[in-house]
Amino acid sequence: DWSMENFIDMQVEKIREQVGDKKVLLGLSGGVDSSVVGVLLQRAIGDQLTSIFVDHGFLRKGEGDQVMDMLGGKFGLNIIRVNAEERFMNKLAGVSDPEKKRKIIGNEFVYVFDDEASKLKDVKFLAQGTLYTDVIESGTDTAQTIKSHHNVGGLPEDMQFELIEPLNTLFKDEVRALGTELGMPDEIVWRQPFPGPGLAIRVMGDLTPEKVAVVRESDAILREEIAAAGLDRDVWQYFTVNTGVRSVGVMGDSRTYDYTLAIRAITSIDGMTAEFAKLPWDVLQKISIRIVNEVDHVNRVVYDITSKPPATVEWE
Ligand code: XMP
Repeated sequence: DWSMENFIDMQVEKIREQVGDKKVLLGLSGGVDSSVVGVLLQRAIGDQLTSIFVDHGFLRKGEGDQVMDMLGGKFGLNIIRVNAEERFMNKLAGVSDPEKKRKIIGNEFVYVFDDEASKLKDVKFLAQGTLYTDVIESGTDTAQTIKSHHNVGGLPEDMQFELIEPLNTLFKDEVRALGTELGMPDEIVWRQPFPGPGLAIRVMGDLTPEKVAVVRESDAILREEIAAAGLDRDVWQYFTVNTGVRSVGVMGDSRTYDYTLAIRAITSIDGMTAEFAKLPWDVLQKISIRIVNEVDHVNRVVYDITSKPPATVEWE
């Protein structure tokens, strides 16, 4: 009968049969799905798997290193990390329209992935973390057409791979259970949703390294305090937004003129609708105090108390 253990054995068997002695490529994003695919494939075919992890510079604080330490270190995946921050930042210079930002990041992601993939020899298969819900949403024959909104990039167009999609019969909660069964830690398995374009859409308008640093540092503080308060499983998604608005503040004897930072924390089932999370005041207070004290260029913190609809989860 059906159990996660049996599922793993069956998939391992199936993957080995499909792959033979050929090589497989995987794009790792740091998210749950691709990480679980990576660990499952590692178990099935070991060194025949090569993973490419593109760091576009908009990941959360420490996330890139965490992916390398955990998946590369503990689970032994062979990961090529591409540090492409400058490449992305150059392409985005002066761009403030949210959809243009998304498009540029998505396209650039494919180019960077493509560049790395084309250096590899004899790769026959591409593994993807397609879920059952993705298969339904994109129709029967086209698990390959990925919604541009929900994934960074798609397949490099001129590359011919056969697809391996071991999660395409599973729902999200089953993928988490699979990850746990494979020995993966909660910080990967229970990772909150994170958009492909990452922190780039959490800075309103055009990007500078300074504005991104504000959102990265404040996000890290928020996550620490939400975890410390034991709320990380209750709140569906939580992050900070650099609104780009500057306001007047006071520090010591002088006026400041610095960024207003927004905190967004929501409860939701699927992200389609959401309510703002009713975080305890003392938790919010602690977060606010820490952010203005520890993050340069922030002198005001506000809490977003709108639901979706009419607001979206992200600000861009
Ligand atoms: P919105 O802002 O549309 O967000 O209410 C709903 C869910 O989708 C995530 N989101 C994205 N995910 N690429 C992604 O991969 C994107 O461009 C993107 N925009 C929003 C958002 O974080 C939330 O979980």
